[in-house]
Amino acid sequence: MQIGEGFLKERYLPLRAFREEHRKSIENIEEFWAEQAKVLDWFKTWDRVLDDSKAPFFRWFVGGQLNASYNALDRHVKAGKRNRAAIIWESERGETRTLTYYELYREVNRFASALKNLGVGKGDRVVIYMPLVPEVVIAMLASARIGAIHSVVFSGFSAEALATRINDARAKVVITADYLYRRGKKLNLKEIVDRALLETPSVESVVVLRREENGVNMVEGRDYDWHNLLEGADKYVEPVPVESNHPLFILYTSGTTGKPKGIVHSTGGYLVYVAKTMQWAWGITESDLFWNTADVGWITGHSYLVYGPLTLGLTVMMYEGALNYPKPDRPWELIEKHGVTIFYTAPTAIRMLMRYGDEWVKKHDLSSLRLLGSVGEPINPRAWKWYYEVVGGGRCPIIDTWWQTETGGYMIYPSAGLQLPPLKPGSATFPGLGVDADVLRADGSPAEPNERGYLVIKKPWPGMLLGIWGDDERYIRTYWQRFSKPDEGIWIYYPADYAMKDDEGYFWIFGRADEVLNVSGHRIGTAEIEHALVLHPAVAEAAVIGRPDEIKGEVPVAFVILKENVVPSEGLKKELIDYVRETLGPIAAPAEVFFVNKLPKTRSGKIMRRVLKALASGKGLGDLSTLEDEASVEEVKKALEGFE
Ligand code: PRX
Repeated sequence: MQIGEGFLKERYLPLRAFREEHRKSIENIEEFWAEQAKVLDWFKTWDRVLDDSKAPFFRWFVGGQLNASYNALDRHVKAGKRNRAAIIWESERGETRTLTYYELYREVNRFASALKNLGVGKGDRVVIYMPLVPEVVIAMLASARIGAIHSVVFSGFSAEALATRINDARAKVVITADYLYRRGKKLNLKEIVDRALLETPSVESVVVLRREENGVNMVEGRDYDWHNLLEGADKYVEPVPVESNHPLFILYTSGTTGKPKGIVHSTGGYLVYVAKTMQWAWGITESDLFWNTADVGWITGHSYLVYGPLTLGLTVMMYEGALNYPKPDRPWELIEKHGVTIFYTAPTAIRMLMRYGDEWVKKHDLSSLRLLGSVGEPINPRAWKWYYEVVGGGRCPIIDTWWQTETGGYMIYPSAGLQLPPLKPGSATFPGLGVDADVLRADGSPAEPNERGYLVIKKPWPGMLLGIWGDDERYIRTYWQRFSKPDEGIWIYYPADYAMKDDEGYFWIFGRADEVLNVSGHRIGTAEIEHALVLHPAVAEAAVIGRPDEIKGEVPVAFVILKENVVPSEGLKKELIDYVRETLGPIAAPAEVFFVNKLPKTRSGKIMRRVLKALASGKGLGDLSTLEDEASVEEVKKALEGFE
């Protein structure tokens, strides 16, 4: 299928021109990225574009000085864009707010002053646990303005998950709100924070955005009302110049162990990367209204709801609420109402909305749309076609963006802003400029066309993570050990995704190659769920796998060995599911729990999740020679049958 011919004609280059540009961009990455870095305002230019002397701890634009909040706000205000809309926000309850660049600038300055008054300074960590309201952006930019490091924790996470992240980052301040509204219900966020703070000694103060008059508990001397704090605040705070590699934020993501990884991103390299990829992917201009449905608690929200668009002086739409509430046409209604030109969401949302039928879409005039986007998981061709035909009316190319929390920004995606390649449903097309991607076999040799292997990135790029907060060894082990040859000075980044290049060079990404699940586009480690389960007093051992799900892509399923004398029951299954939901958050809650007496293990005692997965999906068991006890397979089979 060839789509997008004639699209953005004025920017149209033959595809071979894009290929040529791409080849050049990865030939001399320093020269290429030095040129791109002009997209930012620097207080001082860098001394070195790329320092690889401590590889794989690559450092970009070394010695350069800048401030993220200055780039997102001050420079636009100075350039006469003060009355331009930065954020158009709407809530599930129908409230709307528009913040101009000047309003955002004013609020960020005042809140930065308030944070300073709470003793927050350069390098301190600020945890933000808030609903998707404009204040979350204010809090992030205010933190960046004074050189603090923010760590946004998704508001769907539980008190325990929040506490783990606060403790790992040793945060000084937590910023939250009283309530979160979703699907017509009200959740007391502050109460979750209070529970988390019972075990977080580093936290000195809490700022609470109160959305309702009455209500939440405030602890004297620790908790401050957002608006009261602003009363004593200065109107202007000098943006603190930071070195390009000063951390802008930490964002936690699941890994293969029970402990989440604090992914650390830089200021200079990260901002250059998100701004440029934003331009290349979408060819975005000031006449666009970009609606990214992601929450700021995820990297998609950081890079393409906050830092990318604001650094470029664009307008974003932000929506607090569920996409199918109160009615399944909520997104289409909003696109029509606000004149959204680019709609960016996850395949899981597309599949969910598709289920309601075409009528809900057709009720609305979606002619303002010019591009559609997809992120977070592979998009299945059926959902792709529906999205393209029904939502986009056959006019809007789909920009399928492959990337990760760690990569900071888009890596494999169609560059509609340069030249749109013919699209193939389910393929994220080609690596973007400056990205040297490939597919390797397990032994490190290049895979043939159409041969499935492991995706790799062969050269550093400015959006790459600086490391894992407080764990250099894990950083090297997780991302660089698999394919690098340090003795030869070869560093290859390993994202842990299966992929394939077809005979036209298109990349196809198939999903995780490690024990991390992708539930509705969100990463959750099986080890993290297992860890939560064994904390329950009834559980002796647990193994978690992913089972394909039509809407969510994948859902966790748990196999549990109960402690002696514990009586299995349907009630206990439900209790365990609720327990995980409480401990980690709803994404992690198993769709099903099975009780077994044995788990399939290797002779060295490692759980063979592969065998569980095969049994759960009714597939062939493969090689069982390393299995310690064959009776375990029968056990699992029985448990699975028992349920059905
Ligand atoms: O497996 C890939 C999948 O999501 C993982 C990254 O998850 P996270 O860090 O939470 O970031 C999600 C948003 C960028 C990847 O390792 N993934 C992400 N985008 C795609 C994808 N898989 C296929 N196609 C995509 N477009």
